[in-house]
Amino acid sequence: MPQTENGMKKAIIIGATSGIGSELAKILVKNEYKVGITGRRKTELEKLKESDPINFNISCFDCTKENNAEELTKLVNEIEGLDLLILSSGTGDLNEQLDFNIEDSTNKLNVIAFTEIVAWTFNYFEKQGKGHLVAISSIAGIRGSRIAPAYNASKAYQINYLEGLRQKAKKTKLPIYVTDIRPGFVDTDMAKGEGQFWVATKEKATKQILGLIKRKKSVGYVSKRWRLISILLKGLPNGIYNRM
Ligand SMILES: NC(=O)c1ccc[n+]([C@@H]2O[C@H](COP(=O)([O-])OP(=O)(O)OC[C@H]3O[C@@H](n4cnc5c(N)ncnc54)[C@H](OP(=O)(O)O)[C@@H]3O)[C@@H](O)[C@H]2O)c1
Repeated sequence: MPQTENGMKKAIIIGATSGIGSELAKILVKNEYKVGITGRRKTELEKLKESDPINFNISCFDCTKENNAEELTKLVNEIEGLDLLILSSGTGDLNEQLDFNIEDSTNKLNVIAFTEIVAWTFNYFEKQGKGHLVAISSIAGIRGSRIAPAYNASKAYQINYLEGLRQKAKKTKLPIYVTDIRPGFVDTDMAKGEGQFWVATKEKATKQILGLIKRKKSVGYVSKRWRLISILLKGLPNGIYNRM
């Protein structure tokens, strides 16, 4: 297991080619991290690397096709350690027709690959005796959705799985932290559909996410006011919710 060099922290961001992951990658190198960045779009990874060739290492792979454990092991060896892993890759589409291809590709990334990556990371941190896992779930995981059923269900799975890992981390008595970031709307390619409100810029969202990471929070809403929506959603009676 590679030892982290003194002074410089090591991070991996899965899904760093655009949106929240890409912004977080830029913010982490400014905060003296060496960062392994991943995604399928090689040119986007190369653009980021050009901005700081020393502190970015690229690994281009599709989380639903490759062996994630192997890819992560290689990348950790390249950056020589791992203190923080941020899982920001995610997909989902509006799917009122229940087209199975959409549901299937959503589950392959948000459920199957997610599980493989967070489980590998947790085991790595347990062996190492410390570490911080962060995953970007969504406010969408709070309730089901007739418009994007697999997306909401997969985010509910992530929220629940991360809670399980937090419980498991507590049992180890090791300094292992698991942070669940639940954004509302952030202005990325992912934000789809009508009626969006309280849309945060990527810059504002990532600044808040960095604060949550530094404070090692268990759960964080981005932007902060989405915590209110989560409380409202959780408390809304089924009779009302089902008519919406
Ligand atoms: N934007 C919002 O309003 C919002 C709200 C709540 C939650 N979220 C969550 O935030 C996370 C980040 O999304 P974003 O808004 O930043 O959207 P985004 O710009 O579309 O970013 C998604 C990232 O996932 C990567 N990705 C997609 N499929 C992949 C695959 N098969 N293998 C490897 N990487 C893959 C993409 O890279 P490649 O395409 O290069 O592979 C990209 O880097 C997602 O989990 C999303 O569900 C977003």
